[in-house]
Amino acid sequence: MSVAKSNVVKNSKIVKEPLYLKELYGFLYHNPKLEKFMDDDRIQALLSFGFKGKLIDDMLEDVGTNSSVLQIGCTFGSQMQKTADKIGRYGSYVIVDVSNEQLERARGQLIDKKIDFERHDARKPFNGKYDTVICFMLLHELPETSREKVINNALAAVKNGGRAIFIDYHQPSDFNVLRFILKPFNRLFFPFVEKLWKNPIKNYARKSNHFSWYKKSYGAQMFQKVTAVRRVSDGKKPETKPSFY
Ligand SMILES: C[S@@+](CC[C@H](N)C(=O)[O-])C[C@H]1O[C@@H](n2cnc3c(N)ncnc32)[C@H](O)[C@@H]1O
Repeated sequence: MSVAKSNVVKNSKIVKEPLYLKELYGFLYHNPKLEKFMDDDRIQALLSFGFKGKLIDDMLEDVGTNSSVLQIGCTFGSQMQKTADKIGRYGSYVIVDVSNEQLERARGQLIDKKIDFERHDARKPFNGKYDTVICFMLLHELPETSREKVINNALAAVKNGGRAIFIDYHQPSDFNVLRFILKPFNRLFFPFVEKLWKNPIKNYARKSNHFSWYKKSYGAQMFQKVTAVRRVSDGKKPETKPSFY
């Protein structure tokens, strides 16, 4: 019996793949065999030195059931599936990606989940406002100017009282022996990551004082989770969520 495909990709012809995606990461994002390999949670665990599961679990603590969530960029492994399960049928989960190929890959895998897929370049502002905006392991792939735009657009899409979650690499501490492996690896595959090591995510935010910032690091500072919670401004009453029942 064929399964009816419920999730469609809202596509726009105006969106073009950025040059950095084609030139630097084309080996990965235009390679279905490698993508299939990377999609295995065991490979993801290996590549993250065992931290991917913990990063996903900690991210999910900030995602409310029945809430509205925007995710910027498709990921490998079970991160999107787990997030959809946490949000549940009565929330909304929008995943945007600049690559149609990646959206189709994700849609094919998550056909039974309630997710809206949209083609959108996150360097351009978003239309809606969300309880939570997720940026999971995307920032290190971006050149500085694109990174700044994506961070500010993510923050602008957060509702009053809502949050943006940035999970990414961080400068490893001096005690982390893995930094000797990471440096040459990054220079080969992720040339923009070292700027992210040096510059705290908060520093990219143009309106950083509109948010309360929380930072946690993992694996002798190899990874970071930065949560920016939008402050409810004086005189602006936060929206009341309608009762679920
Ligand atoms: C979110 S990262 C995640 C990959 C990472 N290795 C992982 O799974 O942990 C990669 C995704 O972001 C997308 N992406 C890159 N630049 C983007 C942009 N400017 N706007 C929207 N999506 C973008 C890529 O097409 C890709 O599908």
